Amino acid sequence: MFFASLVAAIALAVIQRACAAPILDVCGRNDPHELDIRTFGVEGCQDENQGVYTLELSQSNVCYTFVDPIGSLTVADNLCTLTIYDDDACTEAPVVVPTNICQNGTWKSYKMTC
Ligand SMILES: *[C@@H]1O[C@H](CO)[C@@H](O)[C@H](O)[C@H]1NC(C)=O
Repeated sequence: MFFASLVAAIALAVIQRACAAPILDVCGRNDPHELDIRTFGVEGCQDENQGVYTLELSQSNVCYTFVDPIGSLTVADNLCTLTIYDDDACTEAPVVVPTNICQNGTWKSYKMTC
């Protein structure tokens, strides 16, 4: 009996640790959708569509790099602010991206702030 409750307590602790992780939303907790980024491999926001990055609140204030080299992007559903950078570490040449306006450029990383 004691052993069973010990196992349950450990399992609960593991689940709580997972819930504290910034990216994984394994617990189905309330993590509102804040912003979408659609990226393209070339300038103009039309050709070489690379798909959408969907960002939730728990992903704010974390630096991410773009998966593929990008040439342009648009931001939609912008409830938070997206800043894009020239380097991989969210430090160089920050640009705040307006909603639904094509941004040409070969940015390397991005960070959402809510
Ligand atoms: C982005 O690039 C496209 C294609 O080169 C061009 O038509 C468009 O005017 C550019 N947009 C901006 C905001 O510079």
